[in-house]
Amino acid sequence: MERKKVTIADLQKKKQEGKKITMMTAYDYPTATLVDQAGIDTILVGDSLGMVMLGYDSTVPVTMDEMIHHCKAVSRGAKGSFIIGDMPFLSYQVSIEKAVENAGRFIKEAFCDGVKLEGGSDMADVVKAIVKAGIPVCAHIGLTPQTATMLSGFKVQGKDAESARELVKSAKDLEKAGAFMIVMECIPDLLAAQITRELKIPTIGIGAGKDCDGQVLVYHDLVGLFERFTPKFVKQYINLSPKIKKALAQYKREVEEGTFPGPEHTFTMKK
Ligand code: KIV
Repeated sequence: MERKKVTIADLQKKKQEGKKITMMTAYDYPTATLVDQAGIDTILVGDSLGMVMLGYDSTVPVTMDEMIHHCKAVSRGAKGSFIIGDMPFLSYQVSIEKAVENAGRFIKEAFCDGVKLEGGSDMADVVKAIVKAGIPVCAHIGLTPQTATMLSGFKVQGKDAESARELVKSAKDLEKAGAFMIVMECIPDLLAAQITRELKIPTIGIGAGKDCDGQVLVYHDLVGLFERFTPKFVKQYINLSPKIKKALAQYKREVEEGTFPGPEHTFTMKK
């Protein structure tokens, strides 16, 4: 049975009622179908697809066209989950006009329900303009992978008093600018809990402790399909890679031995 579409009001209500929000990444039709059927509230078509699907070393090279291609597949597969398209590096920083135009592509061409973009207080104007155009925006603070070089690498953010204060300010500025939700990546749990308490909009954590309003993980990490590295915050719920390798090795062996296809996979002519 098809699910009713999750709305921003549903997500807000979950926060108010103290019910946890679930978010999972998906980048293709079959995964989106599974995530949707699992009843996950929101799907993030993350620019992490650059690494886990396209084999880039970081999310930086991901293009708008690549994002749109994957978002289209996801929105064909998921009818219930609220779908968020991740704006890639330099698709929203160059000018406000360009940011609104690119955000619009996620909605008009790829049928996403909203967009996500990385950055703190300095992105408030961009968020405001996209929201003014009628496009829901999820913000993303803390460790922002697109600008990890500026942060001197993939490090936990907000560990000292000054950077913690800056993150609280960013979260509040982004809420004021109209963001409907905020992802917090790699920040200490007590800071994430404070921001969650102080904001009216839901917070989604990844490496931000258990007191956020919800959690997100990268699908390939959760199912063991990305073997290059595993961050501390990842919990692998199933390890598919060895199982898939085993199935492929068996297929190869059976073709080479001549035991596949067997009679049950073969069409025969009437005598
Ligand atoms: O691109 C992505 O998948 C993300 C999540 C890690 C939050 O931004």
